Order: sequence, then C-alpha cells, then structure tokens
Amino acid sequence: MTRIPVCLAQTSNPSATPAHRPATGRLLPAVFVALALLAPVAARAQSSGADVYKAKCQMCHGADLKGNTPGGKMTHAQPLDSPEAIHKTDAEMIAVTRNGKEKMPAFAAKLSDAQIKSVIAYIRTLQKK
Ligand code: HEC
Repeated sequence: MTRIPVCLAQTSNPSATPAHRPATGRLLPAVFVALALLAPVAARAQSSGADVYKAKCQMCHGADLKGNTPGGKMTHAQPLDSPEAIHKTDAEMIAVTRNGKEKMPAFAAKLSDAQIKSVIAYIRTLQKK
C-alpha cells in the first residue's frame, strides 16, 4: 500500500529522467500483481465461519455438531444437527449465539455480528452433511 504514493511521486517528479520511467512502468504492474495475490487472503479472513467455529464452538459442539466432546458433555450441549436445531431460523440461532442459553456462553461481546452470521452459515453447511 505504501508503495503506490511512492510510484506516483516518481511519475510526477519533473526531475525524473526518462530512464526512470520504464522502471516505474514495470513497478506498477508488479504492485497490481501483489494486490491480486493479497485479495484471496483478505477474502479468507472475512469468510471465517469455519475458523470461528473451530476456535469458539467446536470444543463444546464438536466437529460433527453432535456435542460429543468433553465440553459438550459437561455443559449438556444440544446437538446442532438435531431436527430441532435444523428447523430453527437463522435469527433464532443468532440470538442463542449472541445471548447464550443455560450453559451456552453469550458471544455478543466476543464476536462481531458478521462473525456470528458467518459461523451460523457454516453450521448450516454442516447440518446438510
Ligand atoms: C461451553 C460450551 C459451549 C460453547 C463454547 C458453545 N456452545 Fe452452543 N450450546 C451449548 C449448550 C450447553 C447449549 C444448549 C443450551 C440449552 O440448554 O438450551 C448450546 C446451544 C446452542 C444453540 C441452540 C441449539 C438449539 O437447538 O437450541 C446454538 C445455535 C449454539 N449453541 C451455537 C453455538 C455457537 C455458534 C458457538 C460458537 C460461537 C457455540 N454454540 C459455542 C454449549 C456451548
């Protein structure tokens, strides 16, 4: 990011000799290539439903949603692939995640709304398996 102003400064520098210009011409495409390579990284950071699940939910709800983990057994986590959970609306799932329920911790202060949305979307993909 900091390179772009540098490039522009070089291009608009009146004292730049013609010899500098071809170099700038090669540098700009390189910056665009670098940005194109970075874009998928940014996309992965955003679509972190799976990452959020693994970091914050899996210890209780399990990789398979069944809650068959030490944390799940201790807190009596409901299986998230039960017909009941499948028939809950996204809004209801989001509400439980935000506000907590019984021994289910509240995540409103720990996760953004976007993260909660994407983790519920990830749970939906697991429910279909
Ligand atoms: C400390 C263990 C624990 C963690 C961590 C945890 N949960 Fe839960 N979860 C529970 C328990 C226990 C319940 C059952 C609550 C009840 O008694 O109704 C539950 C219930 C739920 C329900 C409601 C299911 C239903 O059918 O009513 C949803 C949705 C849910 N959890 C999502 C999540 C998400 C998303 C995360 C991660 C951001 C998460 N949970 C993390 C323990 C946990």
